[in-house]
Amino acid sequence: MFCFGSAEISLGAFKYMSNGRQVDVALGERSYKIQVESGIMARAVSWLSPWVTGKKVQLITDSNVAPLYGDTVSGELTSSGADVALSVIPAGEEHKRLDTCAGLYADMVRHGLSRSSFAVALGGGVTGDMTGFVAATYMRGIPFIQIPSTLLAMVDSSVGGKTGVDLPEGKNLVGAFWQPSLVLIDPCMLRSLPLREIRCGLAEIVKYAVILDAELFTLLESNVERLLQPDIDFYTDIIARCCELKAYVVANDETEQGLRAILNYGHTFGHAVEAVSQFSVGHGEAVAIGMAMAADLAVALGLFRQEAADRQERLLQALGLPVRAPAGLGVAPIMAAMSNDKKKSSKGLVFILPQSIGKADICRGIDIPSVEAAVRGRCD
Ligand SMILES: NC(=O)c1ccc[n+]([C@@H]2O[C@H](COP(=O)([O-])OP(=O)(O)OC[C@H]3O[C@@H](n4cnc5c(N)ncnc54)[C@H](O)[C@@H]3O)[C@@H](O)[C@H]2O)c1
Ligand SMILES: [Zn+2]
Repeated sequence: MFCFGSAEISLGAFKYMSNGRQVDVALGERSYKIQVESGIMARAVSWLSPWVTGKKVQLITDSNVAPLYGDTVSGELTSSGADVALSVIPAGEEHKRLDTCAGLYADMVRHGLSRSSFAVALGGGVTGDMTGFVAATYMRGIPFIQIPSTLLAMVDSSVGGKTGVDLPEGKNLVGAFWQPSLVLIDPCMLRSLPLREIRCGLAEIVKYAVILDAELFTLLESNVERLLQPDIDFYTDIIARCCELKAYVVANDETEQGLRAILNYGHTFGHAVEAVSQFSVGHGEAVAIGMAMAADLAVALGLFRQEAADRQERLLQALGLPVRAPAGLGVAPIMAAMSNDKKKSSKGLVFILPQSIGKADICRGIDIPSVEAAVRGRCD
């Protein structure tokens, strides 16, 4: 077994503040700002106009989000001096594919977008990943803005520049690294998000806390009710903190040569559970189960204390997330799905294993029987 540790992270102490927060993603000439502020989408002109005044803009959203926030965002873009056209894609992961992109390219040609025009993604990770990919490839690349509307998109997919679509052969098999020019996050949008989707985002938040931020973990433990309500002011801080953590990782390893892999905590197991369940287990739910398996593996290998694994489990359960695979899923199919995972490197499967709450290692060469035991322990 070979492990290397995450770099010590020095973001400074976490301060609880309930006004707007700004996070910088430092990527040289591709740097950008993330503004997290409740109500920002109703007063976004000062943020949008430096980018879009006098430009053609394709606003891309999905069929659930369009009736909720389409008019507000379209209105803010128009007030910012943009010439806006709206594209509405059908909601759902099954539409995150190339033929949906083809429809979007056609809309963009029809609206007369040039290389200096903008795309704007308004929605969850599906809309963000696909809009980013279309922006990366239309006329060899046009700038785009992310306005994430799910908790998962706010804390994870809208930051970091991974864009792409699925193929029938697997998820996210076609894509590009393409950073947004700006990310605007309005936590008020969480008010309309179904609780199951909130929980899926919470799984990624627990992930950040376990791998990078013990203080955040403690804050989550003592505020479960506010997280499930959802308490918008509280989320403003939590989302900003997660964006800070992701920005730190991405700024140090934009294209996942090393450190960025740490963000896959719970995902090697989780992707397999998700796939074997034929996606009836949601991504965040699968990540929660995957984190439980990874923690068990780390305990069995003597890397992580049982009490810390129990703390993680209690938090996941308090948030209403599963920590065991649904009955009947089967150990062998999960093991087989893992060996197909595209994150498998030439040196074998990579596991992110916690060392303590707030610190994790990137590990290779773990013996298969130990991995299988961790899966079996969480299957019924
Ligand atoms: N690029 C990355 O780094 C990255 C990271 C993690 C996940 N992802 C991708 O993100 C996708 C999952 O994202 P997701 O969970 O946001 O899924 P999603 O985009 O499908 O959104 C989930 C559901 O919520 C609806 N919705 C969105 N905002 C809403 C709101 N404010 N109120 C009510 N309903 C709303 C959507 O219409 C959809 O039905 C996956 O395709 C995954 O591969 C990408
Ligand atoms: Zn994830």
